[in-house]
Amino acid sequence: MQKTEHRKINLSVDIAGLKLKNPVMTASGTFGYGEEYSEFVDLNRLGAIVVKGLSVEPKKGNPTPRVVETPAGMLNAIGLQNIGVKAFIRDKLPFLSQFNTPLIVNFFGDSIDEYVKAAEELSSAKGVHALEMNISCPNKQAGWIIFGTDPKIMEQVVTAARKTTKLPLIVKLSPNVTDIGLMAKVAENSGADAISLINTLTGMVVDIKKRRPVLGNNTGGLSGPAVRPVAVRMVQEVYKAVSIPVIGMGGIMNASDALEFLIAGARAVAIGTANFVNPTATIEIIEGIEMYLEEEGFYDINDIIGSLITNTNALSKLT
Ligand SMILES: Cc1cc2nc3c(=O)[nH]c(=O)nc-3n(C[C@H](O)[C@H](O)[C@H](O)COP(=O)(O)O)c2cc1C
Repeated sequence: MQKTEHRKINLSVDIAGLKLKNPVMTASGTFGYGEEYSEFVDLNRLGAIVVKGLSVEPKKGNPTPRVVETPAGMLNAIGLQNIGVKAFIRDKLPFLSQFNTPLIVNFFGDSIDEYVKAAEELSSAKGVHALEMNISCPNKQAGWIIFGTDPKIMEQVVTAARKTTKLPLIVKLSPNVTDIGLMAKVAENSGADAISLINTLTGMVVDIKKRRPVLGNNTGGLSGPAVRPVAVRMVQEVYKAVSIPVIGMGGIMNASDALEFLIAGARAVAIGTANFVNPTATIEIIEGIEMYLEEEGFYDINDIIGSLITNTNALSKLT
């Protein structure tokens, strides 16, 4: 019998100098601080671990109910509950540092000052490899406008964080805007090393008997398969608008979903809501991507990133 050649497939990607062994990471807020999933997932196999968003001071979060299931997704209003930067560094970082996997810490604040303080403290901690800025939260000094929905406010907060840290800075965009490409460009010009998207889409579910919103916070963020086509479209627009790497997420449940994002231009993908349905989703997605590459005759993941062939006869930019 003839021996078939078995060439190794390269799955590794580079995000702003950060070497990932594969392009699959966790999405902030859906994987706790890593330890919670370590019973199900070998954390050494992940491309990167992204932890729950941290603020300088701990936060209790929103009143309950905080989550509600929706068709093909979920709406959450956790309210950014977290243990705070100091407790994270003291209690969670030692565990996460054991693994041979880059650690990306998601952070936020309700003022520019708070972003700067969080970035400062996290940057001085050993074992943090990159920072992801969640700008989908309100700015108390600007009438509670969401940082990531106003180009001027976004520019100010990203510029301030950029000055504070030497770590790779990933800016996570809010999809609740009209022109996502413009927002990505503003983030790039303000010093972002990479862009991640999408965060959740704002939504509401009404209890018709009570005639009240189901969530304690009234509105929440929609995630899961329902948002995926919107996310893929936005990733493609951002990929075309900027020259820094793009990390795609939004409703990725399996390898085929992840591949849509990679082909549309994402250099890495993050798995969120899927972790709640299937705790081993990340590993299955890594294996599925490798299998696809093998079947399609690719030896390097980088060859499919941004390989989308768009229809040149499309008449409208939008539909
Ligand atoms: C319960 C929950 C908590 C989340 N917490 C955060 C967070 O702390 N910081 C952040 O940037 N994004 C947070 N997200 C957004 C996710 O990281 C991700 O961007 C979004 O859910 C879309 O991906 P998915 O459809 O795969 O879940 C959260 C999402 C969910 C469902």
